[in-house]
Formats: sequence, C-alpha cells, structure tokens
Amino acid sequence: MTDSVLSVRNLTTSFKLRSGWFPAVRDVSFEVMKNETLCLVGESGCGKSITALSAMGLLAGQQGCRVSGEVWFDGRDLTTLGEGALRHVRGDRLAMIFQEPMTSLNPVLPIGYQVAEPLIYHRGMGRHEAEKEAVRLLDLVKIPDARRRLAQYPHQFSGGMRQRVMIAMALACDPDILFADEPTTALDVTIQSQVLALMNELRDEKAFSLVLITHDLGVVATIADRVAVMYAGEIVELAPTDELFRAPRHPYTEGLLRAIPRADRDTETLQAIDGQVPGIDKMPAACRFAPRCALREDICERERPELVDCRAEQPHGIRCHVRTRELAGSAS
Ligand SMILES: Nc1ncnc2c1ncn2[C@@H]1O[C@H](COP(=O)(O)OP(=O)(O)OP(=O)(O)O)[C@@H](O)[C@H]1O
Ligand SMILES: [Mg+2]
Repeated sequence: MTDSVLSVRNLTTSFKLRSGWFPAVRDVSFEVMKNETLCLVGESGCGKSITALSAMGLLAGQQGCRVSGEVWFDGRDLTTLGEGALRHVRGDRLAMIFQEPMTSLNPVLPIGYQVAEPLIYHRGMGRHEAEKEAVRLLDLVKIPDARRRLAQYPHQFSGGMRQRVMIAMALACDPDILFADEPTTALDVTIQSQVLALMNELRDEKAFSLVLITHDLGVVATIADRVAVMYAGEIVELAPTDELFRAPRHPYTEGLLRAIPRADRDTETLQAIDGQVPGIDKMPAACRFAPRCALREDICERERPELVDCRAEQPHGIRCHVRTRELAGSAS
C-alpha cells in the first residue's frame, strides 16, 4: 500500500506484575494511511492508550515494561532508534495529545511560552520568532484575541480552550501523524463537537493523518474514515467506518453498536455487553472475548483466532472463528 504513512506490525506490550509478565497489548498490526482519520475504539482497559504510547516509542525501555514488534515510519523501524533520534521524530513528525490534557499543560508557565517551546526545540527558532508563530497557531485553533492571551496562564483558559491549546502545540511542527487520546472526553457535548470539527478541518488543511482514540462510537461515526475495534489488548475488527456501522462482523462490535442510543430505535432495546474486560493477568488463553460471547463454541476456548480479512467489498479484518467460518461458507 503506497499510501501508508505508518505501519505497526505485531506490536506487543507487556507489563511485569507480581506474578509475572503479561501482555496488555498483543500482536497489534495496523496501517495509518495518508490524510485519513483512523479511530481506535473499545471499552476502558482495552489497550487503546498503551497501543498509542507504544507506537510513539514512549514505553520502550521503561522499567517493568517490554515492547516488541515493529513500527515503520518514513523507511525506518522506530523501535530500533535510540532515544535521541526518536525524540526528534516525536514532536516533529509524530505528535500526541495525551488522555489527560489538563495535566499536560504546565500551570506556572504562560500559554505562549508553552506553545513556543516545541518550535524552539524542534525548529531551532529564536524566542521572538517562536512567539510570533505561537500567535498564528492559536489563531489557527480559533482562540480569540490570541496575541493578548499569550501571556495568560492555563487556569485563565476554559477546558475547551485548553484543549485547543493542546492541539496548537501538537500541530506546531506540522506533524505527519497526530495521535489524539480521548481529546474531548472531559468537554461538554457542544464543545466536544466543536473541537472534533476543528481537528477534522485542520487535518484536511494541513494534510496530516489522525489516529483518534475514543470509547465513543458517536464520535467515531462523525469523524473516522476507518475504525480499529480493540478488545482486551487485541484488534478484533478493522474496517472502513461506513461498512463497520452497516455490517459489523465481530460479536464484540455488534455488542458495542447495540449499546449506543440511536434515533431509529427506542431506548428500551439498548443492551449493554454483560461482563467486563479482564485484567491483563486474567486473560482467556484462546479467544479473549469468548467468556462474554453469545456465539462461543469449543474452538473459541481452544484456539486463538487470527485477524483475517473476511473478503467484503473493502478490506475488513475480523478475529472470530465463528464469523470467519460463516462468511467463508456463504462465499462458497
Ligand atoms: N503500567 C502498567 N502496569 C500494569 N498494567 C498496566 C499499566 N498500564 C496499563 N496497564 C493495563 O493495560 C490494559 C490496557 O490499558 P490502557 O490504558 O491502554 O486502556 P485504554 O483502552 O486506554 O482504557 P481507557 O479507555 O480507560 O483509557 C489495562 O488492563 C491496564 O490496567
Ligand atoms: Mg486510555
């Protein structure tokens, strides 16, 4: 695929607990295409943040954590780079907005200073030039009266504005890929949709790729080109958004979709998926979704399903023995 800008292959991230090493993310592979929005979606604890942090090289080398697999970007496997080279790629070519943005801004430094910082570090600008550029960036993310606000501190900004500042900082160096981990969860619904619309607009204008992490399928429907559904540290379904909503294949995805309110269904038919995502040291050995799955058969408890292309109109991966067999049967 010539349009791929990032290729994550067999990414596995394990943590050391008292009873041994356990994978929080197992064998995750996906491509990020040029100028697309890819959403990583799944319940809390499914491994979305760990996937993004590992792909950005932010976990490798940390105590009690092991990362394996490959992350190809611009002809290089990032997992083989030293911290110095990696730091250059991060912030400059790959940027990330973290799950807790309110804690990512330094409360004792003016906003302008913080937005200018990456430009000085990565682009070698002087302080004056960088602050001029910071005004342009704050304008870009639609912060009114940006020049005056440069000298203000984070507590003088509302939640939605602070989120816009985070976006401005992430975009300061014109990244090729922006990872955004639940960037709107802390915001109320109207502000949330404004921030999402802004991210989409900027993605088109600046032609970067957006990897958006969310547990909110409503957000996915409005913004994503493709969706990777994660369950218990694995991708269980990977498909273009319209196809995923029209014809979900994995029983977990079906469960997620049944659990969201829709205008064409009354709320009494909403169904939560019974049970919870298991802890990393309590994972079922074969299919990790099996204990919660209505389609469960013996094979699901015996053999781990692979992510296979179910040969729909577009590439559409699923990790389910039963559905893969059914689809193969109906195709022959
Ligand atoms: N440092 C750590 N040590 C041990 N286990 C960890 C560590 N960090 C994360 N985990 C475990 O890894 C799993 C995946 O965590 P992750 O933070 O990626 O989930 P998530 O999908 O981002 O969830 P959320 O929607 O709540 O942010 C969870 O079971 C979590 O408890
Ligand atoms: Mg998370």
